[in-house]
Amino acid sequence: MESVQAIKQRFGIIGNTPALNRAIEKAIQVAPTDISVLVTGESGVGKESIPKIIHQLSHRKHNKYIAVNCGAIPEGTIDSELFGHEKGAFTGATQTRSGYFEEADGGTIFLDEVGELPLTTQVRLLRVLENGEFLKVGSSKVQKTNVRIVAATNVNMFEAIQKEKFREDLFYRLSTVDINLPPLRERQEDIHLLFRKFASDFALKYKMPTVKLSENAVQLLVKYRWSGNIRQLRNIAEQLSVLEQNRTVSAETLRNYLPTTGNNLPAVIKQTKAESDFSSEREILYKVLFDMKSDLNDLKKLTMELMKNGNTKDVEKNNESLIQKIYGNPTNDDIAFEEHDDNESDFLSIPEHTTPPVIENESITDKYHFAEEIEEEETLSLQDKELELIKKSLERHNGKRKLAAAELGISERTLYRKIKQYDL
Ligand SMILES: Nc1ncnc2c1ncn2[C@@H]1O[C@H](COP(=O)(O)OP(=O)(O)O)[C@@H](O)[C@H]1O
Ligand SMILES: [Mg+2]
Repeated sequence: MESVQAIKQRFGIIGNTPALNRAIEKAIQVAPTDISVLVTGESGVGKESIPKIIHQLSHRKHNKYIAVNCGAIPEGTIDSELFGHEKGAFTGATQTRSGYFEEADGGTIFLDEVGELPLTTQVRLLRVLENGEFLKVGSSKVQKTNVRIVAATNVNMFEAIQKEKFREDLFYRLSTVDINLPPLRERQEDIHLLFRKFASDFALKYKMPTVKLSENAVQLLVKYRWSGNIRQLRNIAEQLSVLEQNRTVSAETLRNYLPTTGNNLPAVIKQTKAESDFSSEREILYKVLFDMKSDLNDLKKLTMELMKNGNTKDVEKNNESLIQKIYGNPTNDDIAFEEHDDNESDFLSIPEHTTPPVIENESITDKYHFAEEIEEEETLSLQDKELELIKKSLERHNGKRKLAAAELGISERTLYRKIKQYDL
């Protein structure tokens, strides 16, 4: 078995981070089997070398290796690209064509950005993975193929499954073995190494002396977030190699090449920022809750006072500060409203009761219950409201789900799920 170092040399892979070595080791181990492999990692981390390693170290290496970027093929043609089509299957299908699964028989197919596959294609793919069978588009003749699949994705597949964009059964089929490549920001010891390699490649390519980084520039490079990972680092090395007259690049110069917007803020700053964002959001929520609680207490106090004494001027006077606190100062709008309402110019309008009701009085207890009922009604759970909306919409459309789904702004599939969930 070839060593990790030898493989790195053979496939031009730079770096020595344990996570990278582990990923390569895993690829070497699974290569001789036919196990499906899912390569995961952010965009630009170097996922494309893994299926190449797997193919080259397998018994399939003399047969075809086909790399397909699932995200780049239009939805309308992907089935035909992968599985071929019969003559006349659709407008423009003037002759029978074989797809990648037929061509790569005995070899390996790399499905890059597999998370982008349309659901209908996912069904076909599942069938090939399960028993090697597939149908050309427009054909009913089952064909057989023997293809090893390596797939890659930079999207969170669990999220895709949850959103019903990716089939769970297919996911488990594809990811018998998962090989994860870490983002560059987690491979800080490799960053300068990679930069030096790229700088020397571009020096050769453009026939110029190699660009170097000052010590501070190296620090900046290592701390940067690299949301585009190795692909982005390579681009920046190329730009510097071509554009910088001074072949020793300072931190100030380098900074001009590093975007500081979006996800590309330096890693450290980004992390603390995200944390403080979260905690300040939480703080605001706490504050709102505390304020609400305190308002509620004030209101309780005031209500008690009103129940005891009725809405007399005394109550208003004794609780002036409380009333101010709860209702604030009148704004111009409030005053205008009050004037229009023909009330007294006093901004506070607590309903007038001339005779002070007595506590324990039945009418009060009644009112109290009534108030509680309203409150309960208002806190009807969201689920109940949703159920109500769905029911009404279905009634309006005589049970036609398509129309109801359109009215509710959800997919038919989601509506179907909800109908099952609520047992409608
Ligand atoms: N470890 C590495 N050493 C050298 N070059 C690398 C390494 N990893 C990735 N690259 C280069 O970075 C670029 C992006 O890699 P790629 O495999 O296309 O990323 P992904 O498929 O994960 O988006 C390619 O030019 C690739 O050659
Ligand atoms: Mg890629």
